[in-house]
Amino acid sequence: MKLGIPKETLTGECRVAITPDVAKTLIGKGLEVCVERGAGEAAHFHDDGYVAAGASLVDRSEALACDLVAKVRRPTVEDAAALREGATYIGLMETCGEDEVAAAMHARDITILALERIPRISRAQSMDVLSSQANIAGYRAVIEAAARYERFMPMMMTAAGSAKPARVVVLGVGVAGLQAIATARRLGAEVFAYDVRPETREQILSLGAKPIDLDIGEEGSGEGGYARELSDEAKARQQQLLADELAKAHIIVTTAQIPCRPAPVLVVPEVVERMREGSVIVDMAAGSGGNCPLSKPDEIVTAHGVIIVGHTNYPSMMATDASTFFARNIANFLDLVLEKGEDGALFRKDLDADEITAAAQFKPQPSE
Ligand code: NAI
Repeated sequence: MKLGIPKETLTGECRVAITPDVAKTLIGKGLEVCVERGAGEAAHFHDDGYVAAGASLVDRSEALACDLVAKVRRPTVEDAAALREGATYIGLMETCGEDEVAAAMHARDITILALERIPRISRAQSMDVLSSQANIAGYRAVIEAAARYERFMPMMMTAAGSAKPARVVVLGVGVAGLQAIATARRLGAEVFAYDVRPETREQILSLGAKPIDLDIGEEGSGEGGYARELSDEAKARQQQLLADELAKAHIIVTTAQIPCRPAPVLVVPEVVERMREGSVIVDMAAGSGGNCPLSKPDEIVTAHGVIIVGHTNYPSMMATDASTFFARNIANFLDLVLEKGEDGALFRKDLDADEITAAAQFKPQPSE
């Protein structure tokens, strides 16, 4: 069975789905790994490393024509057309419903295993790319904030004078938010954090940060551990109650997201106006509407003297580690997808038989 690894083509995407180390492991399990030439270059995984691992170097069309294809970002229409009929695609689909690409793949009987659909349960943690990549993103976002902030993060007492620690507020305490808190704490900042899910309070405290408690009049926990969208009244109340805490912050890192919905607005322009000049907002939700309406996707803007960072792909800024973790997630997932038959050949298991592979399948919508 052949596993194809095409190069990522999305602008600015430096990750690769499989690294040489993971290729070696997969080859050891009986897969033939076919890597598009140059696929790992941007993440510093060179072709000779893949060859040394036992993989073959191929052109793009050959990588896409394999029995299994693993990718990081959603396929393009052209990629979808180049996949082999009946093949299995593993990667992020980055869509909530049937779109042009998914429909084209379904029409040609391609099994789509969309990694973002893997349930957030303990047994799936080792396969969870959303977590592995969000963890990297949370870390990198704080590094970005520290680099743009023209003051110290930690308290400093020197012969030339002393500096107070930066006051950092993290909004949204999922995987990225928890890592953002931990990273800001390691840098010595005073950290405050808020999430609409009440269970995050304990987690905030365990990282040495201070929870911001708000009474917004409703419960924010939704299905599968995710948040749900609040009523308009609760949204307005949340913005109003957060305003004073946020205006005092020197750095705000926002990570609040709701699956398949626009990101909630938490940092309103009036708050930005009240912040001290030179403060930094890193809006990690800039790609899905933004937690701050002044952020712009993939731009760094200054508004009212506050620097607002809108990068949308932090994992790609740490492409070597991000690819390493992504590749291990895929290898762990493949252990559930593939099995060795009595003849020693690999075959794809019944995907509906396991809760994780069943949930990961992006099946055609019933209305089709
Ligand atoms: P996410 O990226 O969907 O959202 C980030 C955070 O934003 C969430 O904590 C969410 O509650 C928060 N948020 C949404 N709307 C908000 C608002 N209006 N105000 C403040 N905060 C708001 O979340 P992520 O990181 O993907 O985690 C989702 C869930 O999955 C969490 O409960 C997490 O603990 C859980 N999880 C469980 C794993 C497991 O294996 N057991 C692994 C990874 C995550």
